Amino acid sequence: HGEFNQKIDYVFKLVLIGDAAVGKSQLLARFARNEFSVDSKATIGVEFQTRTLAINEKTIKAQIWDTAGQERYRAVTSAYYRGAVGAMLIYDITKRQSFDHVARWLEELRSHADRNIVIMLIGNKSDLGSLRAVPTEDAKEFAQRENLFFMETSALEATNVENAFQTGLTEIY
Ligand code: GTP
Ligand code: MG
Repeated sequence: HGEFNQKIDYVFKLVLIGDAAVGKSQLLARFARNEFSVDSKATIGVEFQTRTLAINEKTIKAQIWDTAGQERYRAVTSAYYRGAVGAMLIYDITKRQSFDHVARWLEELRSHADRNIVIMLIGNKSDLGSLRAVPTEDAKEFAQRENLFFMETSALEATNVENAFQTGLTEIY
């Protein structure tokens, strides 16, 4: 309905970053197509998907880029960040190391992306509460200190995924 002839008011490029296997590709699959795969393969190079949605009565086309968390499979850094107005920095709430690396990702982001980029810190896999290794409070404090938006999500259960992207896009707009 309508998507084909829709008048697009803005195209926003968003990038996903974070360690391997935190769920970047599945968050994107959930947001773009409302899909989820348990046997998701590691991303190689760069992929992107788009979704058109309404934010504050404007039609926004979100173009969301996804690359590998693993260094050797990653996209060329400068090209990846070029033109991005938003970034989702994702860790896995069950993997402490993926949270410990957030500072490093932030450094890369701040040295390659536009200085006004909107950054959301995302703790994914909130459905795995019994395996939690990163207290929500730790992430909240970190986000406050670094001036990031923060949310916990589950791509599997579709918890807060819509909310996270909407918040990011609204903030960009
Ligand atoms: P790279 O492409 O290697 O950087 O990994 P990635 O961050 O894209 O991770 P991916 O989305 O491929 O997910 C890795 C694994 O975690 C897969 O087995 C997913 O099914 C699983 N996964 C992703 N999101 C969730 C989630 O919200 N909950 C649970 N329980 N598993 C998830
Ligand atoms: Mg991936």
